[in-house]
Amino acid sequence: PVPAARAGDAREPTVLAHRGASAYAPENTLAAVDKAAAMGFTWVENDVQRTKDGELVVLHDDSLVRTTDVERIFPGRAPWKVKDFTAAEIARLDAGSWFSSAYTGTHVPTLTQYMRRIEHNHEKLLLEIKNPELYPGIERQIVTLLDNEGWLDGGHLPRIVVQSFSADSLRIVHGLRPAVTTGYLGTPPVSDLRRYAGFTDLVNPSVDSISAGYVSSVHALNGPHGKPLRVFTWTVNDAATTWKAVGYGVDGIITNKPDAVRAALRAS
Ligand code: G3P
Ligand code: CA
Repeated sequence: PVPAARAGDAREPTVLAHRGASAYAPENTLAAVDKAAAMGFTWVENDVQRTKDGELVVLHDDSLVRTTDVERIFPGRAPWKVKDFTAAEIARLDAGSWFSSAYTGTHVPTLTQYMRRIEHNHEKLLLEIKNPELYPGIERQIVTLLDNEGWLDGGHLPRIVVQSFSADSLRIVHGLRPAVTTGYLGTPPVSDLRRYAGFTDLVNPSVDSISAGYVSSVHALNGPHGKPLRVFTWTVNDAATTWKAVGYGVDGIITNKPDAVRAALRAS
């Protein structure tokens, strides 16, 4: 078994800001990206959906209701699904005031805007393809955007991981661009891991679903790039859970509170 990494250890887990530093700024906005950078964290996770007119936007839910003022701006457009609104309509929405009045005027970013801010901040991106069953062809569209933005050159490739709960989506991304690092969101049975290792470099499970034995089983296999599979676990927001994840030997911790995880790692 792989021994657990400790703070200061070369294998101390990477800390990834979930939906940006989403405990401190509205999730999946440029403000949350900037907050993570200001706190000194370089890895940011996000979620990608698609508008009615085919624009990729950064939003967790397939509905605009929870994190925008869409019901007020567009009454009568229930159930307010992202796929039923144009990019121009979504650009009119406020995606910050639900979180705090300090963020009034914050918008839902397009994926292009989001990636350019990540680039500007010298951050790295864990990009989640959300609800791909709603958006046929979204995998090719994302790969094309990554390519057009220069994210698939040798210098950028280490800065992008594409993840999804959909194994089919990851197979498509891997087939289109085998050089891209991919992460499967979930906890495949150990007996299935070898199959997943054909198209995914990481297995990203809920922290409640794993054990040290499971992480060892993942680490024992090589992924499509000939390196041991890695484990980024979610969503860890306190010291006790951080220490549990460290004890499991994970490689990355996805968190709404990156500062709390960093403090716990330093105290471990
Ligand atoms: O990155 C892991 C995590 O984001 C998966 O769950 O629902 O927050 O996208 P969710
Ligand atoms: Ca996500």
